[in-house]
Amino acid sequence: MSPSELPFEQASIRVDELVHLLDDYSHQYYVLDKPTIPDEEYDRLYKELVELEEAYPQLIQNHSPTQRIGGALLEGFEKVSHDTPMLSLDNAFSREDLAEFDRRVSQLVDGEYSYHCELKIDGLAVSLKYEKGRLVYAVTRGDGTVGENVTANVKTIRSIPLKLKKPLTLEARGEIYMPKTSFLKLNEQREERGEAVFANPRNAAAGTIRNLDPQVTASRNLNIFLYALANVADRPASTQDEALKLLDDIGLRTNSERQVYDSIEEVWSFVEDYQQKRTELPYEIDGIVIKVNELSKQEQAGYTVKAPKWAIAYKFPAEEARTVIRSIEWSVGRTGVVTPTAIMDPVQLAGTTVRRASLHNIDLMIEKDIRLGDTALVRKAGDIIPEVVRVDKEMRSGESEAYVFPENCPACGSELTHLEEEVALRCMNPKCSAQAKERLSHFVSRNAMNIDGLGERVVSQLYENQLIRDVADLYYLTKDPLLKLEKIGDKSADNMLSAINKSRKNSLERLLFGLGIRHVGAKAARLLAEEFESMETLKQASVEEIIEIDGIGDTIAESIRSFFDLEEVEELLDKLNQAQVNMLYTGKKKEEQAAADTYFTDKTVVITGKLSHFKRTELKNKLNDMGAKVTGSVSKNTDYLIAGEDAGSKLAKARELGITVIDEAKVLEEIE
Ligand code: IVH
Repeated sequence: MSPSELPFEQASIRVDELVHLLDDYSHQYYVLDKPTIPDEEYDRLYKELVELEEAYPQLIQNHSPTQRIGGALLEGFEKVSHDTPMLSLDNAFSREDLAEFDRRVSQLVDGEYSYHCELKIDGLAVSLKYEKGRLVYAVTRGDGTVGENVTANVKTIRSIPLKLKKPLTLEARGEIYMPKTSFLKLNEQREERGEAVFANPRNAAAGTIRNLDPQVTASRNLNIFLYALANVADRPASTQDEALKLLDDIGLRTNSERQVYDSIEEVWSFVEDYQQKRTELPYEIDGIVIKVNELSKQEQAGYTVKAPKWAIAYKFPAEEARTVIRSIEWSVGRTGVVTPTAIMDPVQLAGTTVRRASLHNIDLMIEKDIRLGDTALVRKAGDIIPEVVRVDKEMRSGESEAYVFPENCPACGSELTHLEEEVALRCMNPKCSAQAKERLSHFVSRNAMNIDGLGERVVSQLYENQLIRDVADLYYLTKDPLLKLEKIGDKSADNMLSAINKSRKNSLERLLFGLGIRHVGAKAARLLAEEFESMETLKQASVEEIIEIDGIGDTIAESIRSFFDLEEVEELLDKLNQAQVNMLYTGKKKEEQAAADTYFTDKTVVITGKLSHFKRTELKNKLNDMGAKVTGSVSKNTDYLIAGEDAGSKLAKARELGITVIDEAKVLEEIE
């Protein structure tokens, strides 16, 4: 029986059950970071709930997981007063400042006390109000007294429970942030689309929470750490440590990197320790927050107008450096966006030598008035990619002149355009060599046609030697001309041709993604391939038919339609067809997929540390059988790291890259 045919009584019971189950799975996945069921199983239950709710709308509960993303655009954010003001913290910048803070506290409170040390998460503060366990609203800090109601957007954050594990009425306060990897990905996308980039994860998080479209917020992977309880009856905790444990118990996400100490000397070691570990964390922190642990002593210490006297924020020194800009390099992306990079005198920054820094786009360069010979302040955005924050105008000589922007594409020489609605310069020549090379590199890349042995260097060589002009030419390559190229021997030519040949059989979604249609990422390509099953049917589809697919919006649909309407595209597809490149979906049908997929299907897995249940080769074989690819080193392409005892640098790297780490117990569970 399909869910919608269930009688009302039974449907009502099942809805309760599903909401409860899905809540539990989300908690395990998003809060505890320990998924207990495969994503497909979650999706199946979620779909069942959607079907029941469609059949019986009166059964839709406010805290149902289906209610996280509302459809409508917001008109603005209503102002809300905080019942208890959201204060800020006084800052400390040195060991001496901390000692001074400790002296002050010792004068304000009686007897012994301890300190609770926490990371100072660099995001934006919010207060979540729960009534009888239900999330009623979420408000930003604002000026501390009045904030903005951002409930619709906050509900899209999957680690925030819509219903607590206990029916308590309280306010939980914490910091919403964007993980470093999500920030980098977002900026990459924005750069490619010619949109303004966010300066750092904090701005990205704040911009995302104040976006008027909750769908956008939902797509940006925000997260939260709660760090305080407010307005709760019968004081349920007597220390900060207990308060955080209570937050954990009721299903709210706290940061586990925390510690209680008796002396300010130990607090200092914690500070120094995290100053080192800071770059390895998957989110940005800008310091350490030190709080008197005992709540009764906090009350004794009291407050100033703007901050508690029982807490202080130790701020890390900014990871910035100064150096001189010698030249500016302009590079052309796949869609013609031309981006500037400053080439500078080498300088040490957060543990690496930096020579290049992103300038993002022409509008930002104009705004910052960046010139050759300028002394620049460089910082690592998201601790990873260096960028120029500003230049020191006082250091300029009298001869300094405004930078003259290129008028022509550095690769093909055609005139560049600065479109009104864009912040970037664009090369509009569809035959531009740099764009062509980027398109080719994208086509062969791992998530697209996955052709091994065709790195950027080889692609460029093939292009420069006029062996390929477009992606279809790859399938017409023969061995002899390859052998004439530098550094390509008999064996590598054979390997290359066989990898290309193998890719002819790829399922449609890889080809669709590989073609580089604007706005069509790997996920959209998969949805389209699953639904339309052949290039021909998709080619015939109208915008209306395309947007019927769940997860595909107007922008993607219109972009696909105009792509297929181009004459060059018609020719390219013919050429691919004649080369016998598959244009059908050969993956499993949607229904079969849920049944056959395992937790490891199509995942790239790395094993590290000492294993106790398996021999390494045995585990490797098992994982291969379950559809995984096992590799030796952790990179951004790794999906899971299986960590045994005493795992070392691979574990640290996985954490840094935000990769899911699982233990042997989890592997056993999945095998069973
Ligand atoms: S406690 C009254 N703990 O830092 C105490 N704040 O100026 C209020 N922050 O706006 C703050 N991580 O948004 C506290 N573990 C943490 C924090 C934290 C980040 C932010 C918070 C506040 C600012 C302090």
